Formats: sequence, C-alpha cells, structure tokens
Amino acid sequence: MSLLTPDLLRELVAEARLAPSVHNIQPTRWQMLADGRLALVDDTSVRAPVADPTGHDVRVSHGAALEGMSLALNRRGLLIADLAIEDQKSTSPHAVLCRLTIGSGAASDPLTASVPRRMSWRSTFAASPQDETSLMQLPASRSDIVCIRDHKAVAEISTWADEAELSFIREADFRRELLTWMRLSPNDPLYLQSGLNREALAMSAVEASGARLVLGPLFPVLDKLGLAASLLSDRAKTQSAAAIVLFRRPRGEDPLVSGRHFYRAWLEIDRADLVACPISSLADNPASNDKLRALAGLGDEARLVNVFRVGRPTASRSPRHFRLPVDQLIV
Ligand SMILES: Cc1cc2nc3c(=O)[nH]c(=O)nc-3n(C[C@H](O)[C@H](O)[C@H](O)COP(=O)(O)O)c2cc1C
Repeated sequence: MSLLTPDLLRELVAEARLAPSVHNIQPTRWQMLADGRLALVDDTSVRAPVADPTGHDVRVSHGAALEGMSLALNRRGLLIADLAIEDQKSTSPHAVLCRLTIGSGAASDPLTASVPRRMSWRSTFAASPQDETSLMQLPASRSDIVCIRDHKAVAEISTWADEAELSFIREADFRRELLTWMRLSPNDPLYLQSGLNREALAMSAVEASGARLVLGPLFPVLDKLGLAASLLSDRAKTQSAAAIVLFRRPRGEDPLVSGRHFYRAWLEIDRADLVACPISSLADNPASNDKLRALAGLGDEARLVNVFRVGRPTASRSPRHFRLPVDQLIV
C-alpha cells in the first residue's frame, strides 16, 4: 500500500519548495504515479536559457528540490527507499526526471531544522568574533567544501567576482533575461511567487528603480563611461564575508546529485549559524573558475560547481520565502 496520500503530498511539497533554485525560477513539479511512487517532474517551460544555456543550473535546482523532498519526508519518519533516475531525455512539457519509492524508518536528519531558516543573504555581513569557530565547523561537516578565510584572498576574490559578473552582464540577452526574473515593483503579479523581488535582493525602492535603468536602457552608455562596473559592484558585500566557500563535486557527477549536496552544504552553513549567498558567476566564468581552482589547489578530479560568500547576518534575519502556490507545483 502506498504511504503517499494527496494531503500528505501537499504538506511535503510545501516544504520541498523551500529549496533554492536559480533566479528562483522553480522548475520542479511533483506527480503521484498510479503505482504509488512519486515523480519529480521538470516543467520544461521554466528556463533561464541565457544564464544557463546547458540547463546545468536547472538540473542542480531540481536536485535541491529532490533533497528538499527527502528532508520533508525525513521530518515524518519517511525516506526515499529507492530513486530511479530517468536516463532518457523527454520532450514532454512535463518530463519525469526521477521516480521515488517512499519507505518508512528514517533516522532523524539534523538539517531539517535549517530548512525554514535558510535563505539567500544579499546584504553585507557583520563581523563577529565567533566567525572563526563557526567556519571551522564547516569543512569538518562536509568534504566537498573548501573554506577560504584569509582576508586578503577574500578581498581579491571580491574583485574577481565583480569582473566575472560584469562579463555576463555585458551581454544584452543576459541583462534582458535577468530583468524578466527580477520583480522590481510590488505591483508585479508574481512579486511574492517567483523570481527575485526587491526584498529578496535587499534593495530599496530607489535602488530597484536604479537597477531597472542600469540593467536596461542606460547600460551601454554607462559602460562606455566606465560607470556600470561601480554601479553594479557587489565588492563591498563580498569583501565583508567571513569566508568564501567553494563547493566542489566529482567531475562527471549528475548535476541532480550535485544539487542535493549543494542544498545540504547550504543548510550546513545555516546550522553553523551563518548565512550565505551563491556567486555563480565565479564558477561559470572560466577565468575566475581557473583562478579559484589554483588558489584552493583543486585537482582535475574535482569540479568547482558553485561559490558562496558566507558570514554573519547584520540584523536578526527573518527569512521569507517567495514561492509558487503548492497547487501549481503538483501536476
Ligand atoms: C544553482 C543555483 C545558482 C544560484 N546562483 C545565484 C547567484 O549567482 N546569485 C544569487 O544572488 N543567488 C543565486 N542563487 C540563489 C537563488 O537565487 C535563490 O535560491 C532563490 O532566489 C530562492 O531564494 P532563497 O534562497 O532565499 O530561498 C542560486 C541558486 C541556485 C540553486
């Protein structure tokens, strides 16, 4: 007999959807199958083709959602007893990526407590004398993260991050796509549901209006005048980080699997009482990827999947999650 009921599925999806996704696009859907299994389904209409041309980050996002489901099951003493990953690419608008057989008898996972607290921290960080102790915990908790704590190195990486980001922002298509996922006005009907709103981006109303212009019609002229770089710089924020955390996984690993670990690594950061924000451009830009690999001495067997800036929040954080309604996530 299947353990899964429609009511339970709604509760599980409400928690699984708290997983991070690239630009908060939320490509994952869930479907109860006639044989009692649960399918993780890709809504193929939800994409960021310019920022993520290979679909890598979408698959990482699906992996994070899968881990979100595993954690939601865990809170109820349930587990994924079997995971069948589809190896054929489907052309269906709702493509099944994997099928989960749900079982019972899960041992409690300490990371479940971090699920409602984790968020992308996009403000500057506060300095704290406890940072060192918290940061020491991190590499010990996982072998796939490398913590760079040296202040000079963090400052240098802040410059690389700005350069990498600008290399993408200079592409008009990239800016156009980014703006379609940015919800810069609360009047946007999707403001609370998907994409990156002002609150998530830690932007005031004035900053949001500025961002619309700088990323929109004014970019070419501002870039020519040499002003775009400083207007878009995140250097001060990155430099205020207590550490830069490199997330590496074995080369050739399915990004669906990497995504599960990406979410768990981020939850470990929360468990250490720290907050984080990914800086994907550092991993996606070949030059900064190479420099970081060299700095951390990563071997050929490791792939630098993503990079986080990590630190202590400046204010007591009250995480808000802007997500699609559960009904839209069940197909
Ligand atoms: C694969 C991946 C890449 C991401 N890259 C970035 C990034 O480069 N910059 C950023 O600010 N957030 C990045 N994020 C964070 C998402 O924007 C964030 O998870 C999403 O907006 C949901 O918000 P939350 O993390 O606060 O729940 C990334 C998330 C994922 C899963």
